[in-house]
Amino acid sequence: MNSAFVVRGGRPLRGTLRVHGAKNSVLPILAAAILGNGRQVIGNCPQLSDVASTVRILRYLGCDVAWDGGVVEIDPRPMTRCEIPDFLMREMRSSIVFLGAILARTGEALISFPGGCELGPRPIDLHLSALRAMGADITEEGGDLICRARNLTGRDVNLTFPSVGATENIMLAATSAKGVTRITNAAREPEIEDLQAFLQALGANVSGAGTSTVVVEGGWPLRAARYDIIADRIVTATYLSAAALTGGDITLTGVCPAHLSTVTAVLAEAGCELAIGQDTIALARHQPLKAMKPIRTMPYPGFPTDAQPPVLAMATRAEGTTVFVENIFDNRFRHIGELARMGADVKVEGKVAVVCGVPRLTGARVSATDLRGGAALVVAALGAEGESRVTGLHLIDRGYEHFEQNLAALGADIQRLPE
Ligand code: UD1
Repeated sequence: MNSAFVVRGGRPLRGTLRVHGAKNSVLPILAAAILGNGRQVIGNCPQLSDVASTVRILRYLGCDVAWDGGVVEIDPRPMTRCEIPDFLMREMRSSIVFLGAILARTGEALISFPGGCELGPRPIDLHLSALRAMGADITEEGGDLICRARNLTGRDVNLTFPSVGATENIMLAATSAKGVTRITNAAREPEIEDLQAFLQALGANVSGAGTSTVVVEGGWPLRAARYDIIADRIVTATYLSAAALTGGDITLTGVCPAHLSTVTAVLAEAGCELAIGQDTIALARHQPLKAMKPIRTMPYPGFPTDAQPPVLAMATRAEGTTVFVENIFDNRFRHIGELARMGADVKVEGKVAVVCGVPRLTGARVSATDLRGGAALVVAALGAEGESRVTGLHLIDRGYEHFEQNLAALGADIQRLPE
């Protein structure tokens, strides 16, 4: 836990790397696994602390879980509990996605309120109002959410914002509801399509994921399935940003390039050469980085908020000024102060960050403030002159499997040392 990355920057990343499975797919899919009747086998599961937290929740619920390398096997049949206690919810706020799954399986759920996280308040009003509209009786008592829904009913649910977690929770609850649930203004993220594909493999009647309208006809008996998680598009964006910043030449395999089109467009604009294959992205940079047109984070298919920090880290060394507008989360610039210690010139006002490129970054002692902000500090350290020490690795370990080993295999000088 108390360790640090020691990075000696300035080495271009070179080589080939297979990108691991998507954190934001594996979490809802592992929650969805409790809906199946039999042993679920989920492949391409990344070895991340968030996956470990999810496995702990599944075991607490009484599921039989085996996790070996990239495969998690879950048998929900011995499940006895329908509650997630506070100490497990605190490990990972996004466990709220278990609410819809537990309700669908047992008709009741007791979950401690997820509260805020490093990115600021994490409201769940959209989740709760949709579940209430479907017939769930939800009371909030002393920090707990007590939910009862013996007979969920399919409804038309219009989300006022295309929330990823709310769309997932409604889809999960709707698999057990009587009748048809139609979610309009649904989130369109690739992870929603991945969840739909898994639910279909279980035998659920779900369609429309990837568009703004997702339709679920509930009440179908669900079976066991074998399923492989899609590649992590944010991890892909992080390695691409690091290769771009260091003037490297890398090929990432096992990826879905269509999920990254806004990110690769921006990297090309910055002066990188990209070669996009069916499931590969190669990036090389031979000329100086150039500033980019304003980058505004938006729900998918817009520019992803999770890719903003690593791309911003890259922009600190571009010639000229790049403006970033963060439209999804309030606290997504908290690591900028740490970047400044490395010599970055970034001014933040509200949801806007103005990045004036500097000719060089210099190594410094910095501390991760959140998962993607922490990854951005590693990207900056790889492109900085001299030695950096990055602490707060428990935050980075939530989302990057074998981060330092992978970067070292690409030629980076990075080591994990005790603090
Ligand atoms: C998911 C991702 C996260 C990503 C985010 C946006 C997972 C595990 N996490 O988070 O990495 O950054 O999508 O792409 O998949 N909101 C409300 N009320 C609600 C729900 C959300 O106001 O009931 C707001 C949030 O405060 C935030 C915005 O909607 O400002 C986006 O949140 P949402 O799409 O729900 O993100 P998550 O599912 O939490």
